[in-house]
Amino acid sequence: MSDESDRSLADRLSLPEYPRLPEYPRTAGYDPEWVIANMMGPNPLWLLEALTRDLELSPGMRVLDLGPGRGLTSVFLAKEFGVQVWAAELWVEPTEIFRLAAEAGAGDSVFPIKAEAHDLPFPHGFFDAVVSIDSYHYFGTSDLYLDYLARFARPGTRIGIVAPGLTAEFDAGVPEELSGLWDPAYYSFHSPDWWRRHWERSGRVDVEAADLVPDGWRLWRLWNEVCPLPEDPAIRELVRNEHELIRTDQGRHLGFTRVIGRFR
Ligand SMILES: C[S@@+](CC[C@H](N)C(=O)[O-])C[C@H]1O[C@@H](n2cnc3c(N)ncnc32)[C@H](O)[C@@H]1O
Repeated sequence: MSDESDRSLADRLSLPEYPRLPEYPRTAGYDPEWVIANMMGPNPLWLLEALTRDLELSPGMRVLDLGPGRGLTSVFLAKEFGVQVWAAELWVEPTEIFRLAAEAGAGDSVFPIKAEAHDLPFPHGFFDAVVSIDSYHYFGTSDLYLDYLARFARPGTRIGIVAPGLTAEFDAGVPEELSGLWDPAYYSFHSPDWWRRHWERSGRVDVEAADLVPDGWRLWRLWNEVCPLPEDPAIRELVRNEHELIRTDQGRHLGFTRVIGRFR
């Protein structure tokens, strides 16, 4: 997506047209109203589709979906790739995820579990893939975390994450034009290079990719424009601030970081 195509993309993103966004053909098959009603961050299906292009999922695999919120990504994984998904989630109750998956026709292959990411109730060596969309930065920035998580995956399998990120670390502090909009929580956003080093140092994975989702900031901004603001006044203010941050930045510093590693 170039600057020239930006406007036409914005035009095409009006709700009736959104499902046909050609860059994301799998996501196009899902009702945008359903995505908006159940998402907890910028369109998780776009982010997951960008990730799964390089993840090599195949039917019957056991996949850990870490922090799936209400379960959109778990449904997508089950339906698009025929995998079995363990939806390990902290803030949303398993019953809510089960209901969503069952209504979407994926009730037999999505298994919701209430879980804290540092206290996972799974056998060691159980998973054929680990996926985390817009969640891993909440718990995975500690130097110790990947070492803990690796025990649940079979050696040789992959982990892939997409999270809000930076084009490069802010070594000289938050850029001036963003400082008035900066929330301390955003310090959990990191660059592809930061994640590569972070994972390589763990000794638990070989990093196969660490990059930015192409034009991710545009998708982020356009999705913000499509979605209604939340009704809760405090959350509304936070979200409005984030929208302003993305609009102001214009992709200079912010985007979505995508990281894929293979467990040793
Ligand atoms: C912004 S939401 C994203 C949810 C979903 N992936 C989506 O995009 O709609 C962040 C998710 O991270 C999960 N999370 C945050 N801290 C966690 C922790 N310590 N253990 C497990 N999950 C955690 C929350 O439960 C929440 O669902």
